[in-house]
Amino acid sequence: MVLSGKRILLIISGGIAAYKSLDLIRRLRERGASVRPLMTTGAQEFVTPLAVGALAADHVFTDLFSRQDEQDVGHIRLARDCDLVLIAPATADLLAKMANGLADDLASTVLLATDRPVLAAPAMNPHMWAHPATKRNVETLRGDRIRFVGPMAGEMAESREAGVGRMAEPLEIVAAAEALLSDGPKPLAGRRAIVTSGPTHEPIDPVRYIANRSSGRQGHAIAAALATLGADVTLVSGPVSIPDPFGVKVVHVERADQMRDAVLAALPADVAVMVAAVADWRVASAADQKIKKHPGESIPTLALTENPDILKTVGHHTMRPKLVIGFAAETQDVENNARAKLDRKGADIIVANDVSPATGIMGGVRNRVKIVAHSGIEQWPDLAKEEVATRLAAMIAERLKL
Ligand SMILES: Cc1cc2nc3c(=O)[nH]c(=O)nc-3n(C[C@H](O)[C@H](O)[C@H](O)COP(=O)(O)O)c2cc1C
Repeated sequence: MVLSGKRILLIISGGIAAYKSLDLIRRLRERGASVRPLMTTGAQEFVTPLAVGALAADHVFTDLFSRQDEQDVGHIRLARDCDLVLIAPATADLLAKMANGLADDLASTVLLATDRPVLAAPAMNPHMWAHPATKRNVETLRGDRIRFVGPMAGEMAESREAGVGRMAEPLEIVAAAEALLSDGPKPLAGRRAIVTSGPTHEPIDPVRYIANRSSGRQGHAIAAALATLGADVTLVSGPVSIPDPFGVKVVHVERADQMRDAVLAALPADVAVMVAAVADWRVASAADQKIKKHPGESIPTLALTENPDILKTVGHHTMRPKLVIGFAAETQDVENNARAKLDRKGADIIVANDVSPATGIMGGVRNRVKIVAHSGIEQWPDLAKEEVATRLAAMIAERLKL
């Protein structure tokens, strides 16, 4: 219960995602945190201070020049009397103000005056997020040690536009807050980790590709769990629709060859955890133009060629990490296949999971894994993917101690 007893100043700014902040308040309070809300004028166009105050069970701060609030708490105390300043949603406007040190309303003034960690959950139209001005502002803010969770890819609430800009879900924001505030032991401090996650997309032509059902949930959770234990983590992610995990360097790739290059570029490392469901094969020569369907012509045949084996490459590399862990997604004879993989791939551990459709594991939120090592096999119970990640990170920390 990392958040138990923690005081969170929640700044809600004027974006459509402000409705999710109501749920966020509940989630934070369920975990024992107290939430002191601050709303911009814009935010009050989307949700009411009445609803926010009722859910937070606290006074809602809205005005910089409120004589009463200034007497009771004061903007400087508001900025300091908390363990974390959380901005959700963070609008393009508020990020721009922060990046430039503006302080013309209560939210921006508090953000300039605070000496507490600040976590922002941006939410905006994909064009606003992709605009060079927003990109510059976010870079500046990262340099100022502002931490970010999301935004994620998906459909916008207010239009049928899709792209990167959706606010992270409340539970993802909670997880990021927990990671930031966790004062637990950091047994992996000073250790470097590489994690791969998600599927790969192997092009057939510019619009079609071969893919698989991997969601990236397990790999992303492992990257986050390693970071929570203090590791310096590089996550190489295939195309996924979940947000980048908090506190992790993420390299986004599409194809297996790009994933291999990114993994090798991240070496040396103490541990490599290869979770991605890398396509075994790609189309031998992907077409430059969309393959057209012509009436009467025969159906095209796809000639496949083998993709690089990233786990094997890392397992036999001259800069092989001390610990190499691979995931084996199998639909039959899980144990024997995993055992055979140990030697063939040069891995220390294979985490084997049965991904037959009936298990719902591929693309799902839970996992049931076997830890296959030379010393023996350990069956873990059915667990949330986050729990598998936490256990695996603890096991990695133990192994690296030896
Ligand atoms: C319907 C509607 C939805 C909006 N959604 C967003 C949004 O999701 N993200 C954003 O950055 N701005 C959004 N805006 C624009 C902001 O409300 C505007 O920039 C405002 O000045 C932000 O003020 P604040 O940052 O002080 O809260 C939206 C505006 C409207 C009218």
